Amino acid sequence: MFLSNRRPTFKFSSIVTLIALVLVFCFPSYIWPVTDGEAIRIPIPAPSSQTTASSPKATPSATAFPEKIWYKLGPRGVTEQARKWIDSCLDINPTHKSKFMTDLSGDAYVKEHFTHRPDIVNTFLALPFPILKADFLRYLLLFNEGGIYFDLDVSCEGLPIHDWVPEQYKKYAGLVVGWEFDVGWWDGFMRQFATWTIMAKPRSPHISVMLDDILEGLQEKTKEYNVTIAELTWTMVGDVVDLTGPRRMTRSIYKSLKATLGDGFDQEDIAALYEPKLIGDVLVLPGYSFALSSNHYKPEDMQGPALVTHHFDGSWKNDHGGETADPVL
Ligand SMILES: *[C@@H]1O[C@H](CO)[C@@H](O)[C@H](O)[C@H]1NC(C)=O
Repeated sequence: MFLSNRRPTFKFSSIVTLIALVLVFCFPSYIWPVTDGEAIRIPIPAPSSQTTASSPKATPSATAFPEKIWYKLGPRGVTEQARKWIDSCLDINPTHKSKFMTDLSGDAYVKEHFTHRPDIVNTFLALPFPILKADFLRYLLLFNEGGIYFDLDVSCEGLPIHDWVPEQYKKYAGLVVGWEFDVGWWDGFMRQFATWTIMAKPRSPHISVMLDDILEGLQEKTKEYNVTIAELTWTMVGDVVDLTGPRRMTRSIYKSLKATLGDGFDQEDIAALYEPKLIGDVLVLPGYSFALSSNHYKPEDMQGPALVTHHFDGSWKNDHGGETADPVL
């Protein structure tokens, strides 16, 4: 079963903190061993290390995960198939309120709730591709209100959301993510968290880092090409996965954990998981939780159930960066 509800034991002396700060400033590659556009190489550790190490620096929070389920509709609304997937989640979570955002209500929401961050509002509204906005919006919604975000092509596998977070982590976890790729890949592959299902308490500092990193990434693009955000073309945008998608989210979470936990965070601590693991206040779920078909487990390694299935029905991989209102033929 799930291990460890020990209280945090990791402590920094101020000297260590100082050294860490110096390292971070002088050698940014310490926090992020990657140069522009280069793949992150994370070795796969031996899967035997099922230790009970408690997570450093998690502090209990009185807030529970808000009972909200967020969806974002495209111009085509909800297909019959998507309706079934959505219902599979709503039916087993009757106390959760579902919130369906549209392009219009998404814009209005960001304008209303992020007035104190004109950089966010202006960038969001100017983004010329639906997929970039869809990525950005989920982080904004979760940051502002928390809850759980589902893509429209996600179905639930029967376990109510209340039971997703092991009891001993409920107080400590502020962000719940699941591996998309974790177990059964080749050496040196790049791990990433799924973005089709993300759960958060409001104001997660890790999501705050994601938001700032996205803004910075977009700024870099506009400088590189000497254009405004609105003038970005699909070619300039390049790899969406990297700019706003799962790889962005994963990098920002690593960065944020490293900034808060210092040496208490090692990417390998959350690699090759067979059960949920709390690191700081981030609960990382194993690949089978959100992405069973993207991982390769021996049957005995599945120590819990699949929670959702992602049906890969996304419609953004075209040069409009999103679905059009035309019917699909
Ligand atoms: C950037 O674009 C503006 C107008 O679009 C132009 O005036 C300016 O010279 C450009 N700068 C560079 C460095 O190309």
